[in-house]
Amino acid sequence: MSYHCLGCSETFGIEQLLYTCPACGEVLLLQDLEKNRLKGLSGETWRDILDYRRMLKIPALKGIYRFHEFIGPVIPLDAIVYLGEGHTPIVEANATLQEAAGMRFFYKNDGQNPSASFKDRGMASALSYIHYLVKSGRVENILAVCASTGDTSAAAALYASYLQPSVKSAVLLPHGKVTPQQLSQPLGSGASVFEIPGLFDDCMKVVEALSEKYNVALLNSKNAWRILGQESYSYEVAQDLEYEMKNKVVVVPIGNAGNITAVMAGFLKFFEAGIITDLPKIVGVQSEHANPVYSYYLEPDAKKRRFEPMTAKPSVAQAAMIGNPVSMPRVISLVNQYNQRAGKQMVFFTCVTEQEIMDCQLVANRNGHIACTHGGETLAGLIRARKEGLVHSDETAIIDSTAHALKFSGFQEMYFEDRMPAEYGITPKKELQNAPVFMRPEGLKEVPAPGAPLSGEAFREFVRQTADAIAEKLTLSLREK
Ligand SMILES: Cc1ncc(COP(=O)(O)O)c(C=O)c1O
Ligand SMILES: [Zn+2]
Repeated sequence: MSYHCLGCSETFGIEQLLYTCPACGEVLLLQDLEKNRLKGLSGETWRDILDYRRMLKIPALKGIYRFHEFIGPVIPLDAIVYLGEGHTPIVEANATLQEAAGMRFFYKNDGQNPSASFKDRGMASALSYIHYLVKSGRVENILAVCASTGDTSAAAALYASYLQPSVKSAVLLPHGKVTPQQLSQPLGSGASVFEIPGLFDDCMKVVEALSEKYNVALLNSKNAWRILGQESYSYEVAQDLEYEMKNKVVVVPIGNAGNITAVMAGFLKFFEAGIITDLPKIVGVQSEHANPVYSYYLEPDAKKRRFEPMTAKPSVAQAAMIGNPVSMPRVISLVNQYNQRAGKQMVFFTCVTEQEIMDCQLVANRNGHIACTHGGETLAGLIRARKEGLVHSDETAIIDSTAHALKFSGFQEMYFEDRMPAEYGITPKKELQNAPVFMRPEGLKEVPAPGAPLSGEAFREFVRQTADAIAEKLTLSLREK
């Protein structure tokens, strides 16, 4: 394998950790120098190998490295860090939701990864690579650092903590811009946590300065090993859909644009190897409050497109609140490749309001899902894409819920309690709000309390009156005797 520069096309060996091109400073992607050997087997044989591999009990091959030959073939099995990542469920939406979307679709719940977001895929890859460098004596006593909107730091701290004591981690978070649940994660994993004034883009600059001047391992998606691991999302979608990608649409939210890069790269690799015979349509979704990628592609003429970083405004899709995505050069390069290989435009971008994001998240979760706000964004994006004619009713979509609903429950709470700050531009809908009801029938003289249980007639009275009050509230009818 080698690093490949997207700016000057130079290549560099993987014996050292590189983030940007030493020659021109552009971002890198990893390439398999012997990828033609993958064509030595037929697509059918590959599909059989990957399907048989599902039955193996070797931990190293249970997670994202089920696709070892496509992810990091140089990483020996004994260096692979497996913490249970990958193979997240693909759950078909119920009739109510499919009707709302106007088409068949599935959620892929990447919130069911170990640190409750898709970031674990990339960290499994990046930390397995670091583990390999440590085991082969190339580096020692690593300090892994990253800037994060919350989920990256949770994943980085978790995977680094597994490699104690040779790897330690430090994370930089925008002060007040990650949820309490996300903040608790790196703290619990024992990372050094720094809160920095400003937004993610500011934290990113500090981390870059740290990695340029000091001896640290950068774990942001600038690190091409992260992208490589996140490609597993596409491999799993393909495998779970029996490798049939015709008329399929994959919808992902975009922040720093690492995820959509990886998703395109993954499908392209499976396509090149003949494992899939069609490339699925890709729809990238951004919020109106942070839409630099969407804005770039609004210009139909590729030659006239100019990338303009923007100042992100507050978004409930907080992890995607990024105005200057690090992976933009990767997106541009891969969108070109993807459309070229497909022989027509197959990558699309759409933009949704904060209101749509929040409403869609709540509606999804009222219909059996555990979507985070970004999962709301992908559903909103799918509905938009249908309306805009980018996708059609005879297609099937797989939409990404990139994290677990619980990580972002604070937004749900604010919506339910009519406390959404004005800057989000969200008006809570009564029919989507919910609140607990405190039930203490007025006629009751005594109720149980911790350390003071009731007994006898007082207890029976408490149970009877409370049950009756709930039945009245729910307008329950009496059971037939
Ligand atoms: C939950 C969640 N969704 C979406 C994103 C956006 O992914 P990317 O930055 O790779 O575009 C992130 C990244 O921080 C995230 O944590
Ligand atoms: Zn270069």
